[in-house]
Amino acid sequence: MTKKTIGDFNSMVERDEKIVYLTAYDYLTAKMQEKAGVDMILVGDSLGMVSLGYDTTFPVTMDDMVRHCQAVRRGAPNTFIIGDMPYMSYQISDEQAVESAGRLVKEAAVDAVKLEGGGPRMLSRIRAINESGVLVMGHIGLTPQFMGQIGGYKAQGRSAKAAVKLVEQAGLIEEAGAFSILVEGVPSAVGKAITERAGIPILGIGAGPHTHGQLLIYADMVGLYDNFTPKFVKKYANVGEVLVNAFTEYARDVRENKFPVDGEHTYKMSEEEVRELLT
Ligand code: KIV
Ligand code: NA
Repeated sequence: MTKKTIGDFNSMVERDEKIVYLTAYDYLTAKMQEKAGVDMILVGDSLGMVSLGYDTTFPVTMDDMVRHCQAVRRGAPNTFIIGDMPYMSYQISDEQAVESAGRLVKEAAVDAVKLEGGGPRMLSRIRAINESGVLVMGHIGLTPQFMGQIGGYKAQGRSAKAAVKLVEQAGLIEEAGAFSILVEGVPSAVGKAITERAGIPILGIGAGPHTHGQLLIYADMVGLYDNFTPKFVKKYANVGEVLVNAFTEYARDVRENKFPVDGEHTYKMSEEEVRELLT
C-alpha cells in the first residue's frame, strides 16, 4: 500500500468514495490501523484524555504530541498522518503556529497538522502554516479547546443562526488554504450543508452521514475508553473487557501457581548442569 496524498483524497471525493479516518496515539495501534487500510490517522490531542489520563485536552504539550506522532509514524509508515496542534501551540501568533507545525513535520514526519477554530486569528494561522508549506486541516463545531466558551462537551450549530455561522466559517477556512476540514458534533443537516458547499474534503465526527469521510476516536469504537461515550460512537468491539478478563485470569493463575508451567513456559537446562548447580 502506498501512502495517500491530498490528490488521492480529492479524487476519492470526486468518485464519491468515503475517506476512513481514525485517531491513534501509539505504535501498536497505528500498525493495526495501517494493516486495516485506514486512509488517514489523526494523532489527536484527545491523547490527553485517552492515553495520558487528563480530564481535558488542555494540559497536552508539543513535546507530548511530537513523541506520540513519532510512535504513530513508526507504526504506520505508509499512512497519511495528521498531527493535532495542542492548546497554546498556535493561539499566540502566526509565528508560533508555523514553528509548532514545523516541529511536527521535522521531528515526527507528519503529513499535515490540524488546529481548532474559524475566527479571524485562526484563519490567519491557517494561512501562515499553509504558506510555510505544511498542509492544514481545519476543525469546527464542537472544538474542545474552546470548551469554556461553548459551554461543555455538547453539540454545536443546532439553531439556524449558529448553523449558518458554521457554514460560513467552513468557507473562510477553505479560502484561507486548509486542505480539508473536520466538522465535529453538529446535526446531520449542518454536516450536509457544509459538505455540499465545500471544494475540499469534509471529514465528520458526530456530524452525520453526508460528510466525505468519517472519524472516530479509536478508543471509543473498540470499547477501551469508558469514562464516557458520545452518542455518535458505534462500538465495534469490547477490547476493554477482553483485556480485563485476560489480566484477571493471569492474576488467578499466578496466585494459584498455574503459571508458568514448567517445561512449557520455561527455559531448559541439562540434568548434568542442574546436578552441578545443586552441589
Ligand atoms: O483530538 C482529537 O482526537 C480530535 C477529534 C476528537 C476531532 O480532535
Ligand atoms: Na483535538
